Amino acid sequence: MSIREKLQGVLGFGTALLGNMYRNIPEAQAQATVDAAWEQGVRYFDTAPFYGAGLAEIRLGAALQKHNRDDYVLSTKVGRLVLDEIEEPAARDLGEKGGLFEFGRPNKLVNDYTADATLRSIEDSLKRLNTDRLDIVWVHDIAQDFYGDEWLAQFETARKGAFRVLSRLREEGVIKAWGLGVNRVEPCELTLDLTEAQPDGFLLAGRYTLLDHERALQRLMPAAARRNVDIVVGGPYSSGVLAGGTHFEYQKASPEILAKVERIRTLAQRHQVSIKAAALQFSLANPAAAAVIPGASKPERIAEDFAALSEKIPAAFWQEMREQQLVAADAPLPSTRTGA
Ligand SMILES: NC(=O)c1ccc[n+]([C@@H]2O[C@H](COP(=O)([O-])OP(=O)(O)OC[C@H]3O[C@@H](n4cnc5c(N)ncnc54)[C@H](OP(=O)(O)O)[C@@H]3O)[C@@H](O)[C@H]2O)c1
Repeated sequence: MSIREKLQGVLGFGTALLGNMYRNIPEAQAQATVDAAWEQGVRYFDTAPFYGAGLAEIRLGAALQKHNRDDYVLSTKVGRLVLDEIEEPAARDLGEKGGLFEFGRPNKLVNDYTADATLRSIEDSLKRLNTDRLDIVWVHDIAQDFYGDEWLAQFETARKGAFRVLSRLREEGVIKAWGLGVNRVEPCELTLDLTEAQPDGFLLAGRYTLLDHERALQRLMPAAARRNVDIVVGGPYSSGVLAGGTHFEYQKASPEILAKVERIRTLAQRHQVSIKAAALQFSLANPAAAAVIPGASKPERIAEDFAALSEKIPAAFWQEMREQQLVAADAPLPSTRTGA
């Protein structure tokens, strides 16, 4: 069964923020946000050991305890082990994204994509999530944004380690699917080119959004669709700036990005379209996209996401987006996909 068939609906929930990304999120607010997602029908939840050094997994696991495990799909990630040892979270070397989880747990994080670390990471995640199984496992962040020029070396370790272990676990029925969870297109392209160990999908964050889709559109999305490799679109609001937030790529958005968002917002307002609706529906319009997983740190955001998904967007809006070169000329548009 493909990832697309397993997910119950196209709207999932991503828990990076619940690891206290950028700021301290009170426990009750974190729990209420997952509860709101569940109550409104979300049944796919994504997390990772990296998100607050285990904090997001612990919080998600606690919130999901009241539900039957067969009723939802759960993904987490491998590639970073969370140790008992303590470190200074602000001093972690996170490439372009330094300081991201300063407010998370202070446990030491170790990057490790070997076979042994993959198995250990899964065991640790099961404990933190307080569950007996994972559905999807993503190999986390083997890409330039975290490793610079070293990313190919990390990729090679993962190819010989994590990829093989996850393929075996899938064959044994221990997990249902695996792939990469990354902010870059290149590692997904490289993985698709391998003759061995084929993934079931990619969690591609920030690279098939209104603000950035050109590269994925040209090669990765069509190649993935041809091979039935499903794309789960992470960070569909480009980490917030598209939805009214201030972050782009997990940093303060630059004046250029804010200016581009303003152009989209002005156009959207003229057509009485919400920019969140345009963002979510654009990401989902590509045939390779199986789901979007926006993040939220407040319960009220979930209703906004569902409203954005069902909003009717006039074809004239998309036409003008195309004319003003705010979307690529050949990008599938929601109206062209639905025939509306
Ligand atoms: N490498 C990977 O595998 C990878 C990388 C990135 C992301 N992901 C996945 O994708 C998920 C989603 O990404 P994300 O959470 O980083 O980014 P996102 O979904 O693009 O954006 C979420 C942000 O949008 C803000 N927002 C939403 N509605 C808003 C509104 N009306 N006004 C102001 N701000 C608004 C949220 O603010 P509030 O905080 O106020 O709710 C939040 O900060 C992650 O949780 C993770 O599961 C995976």
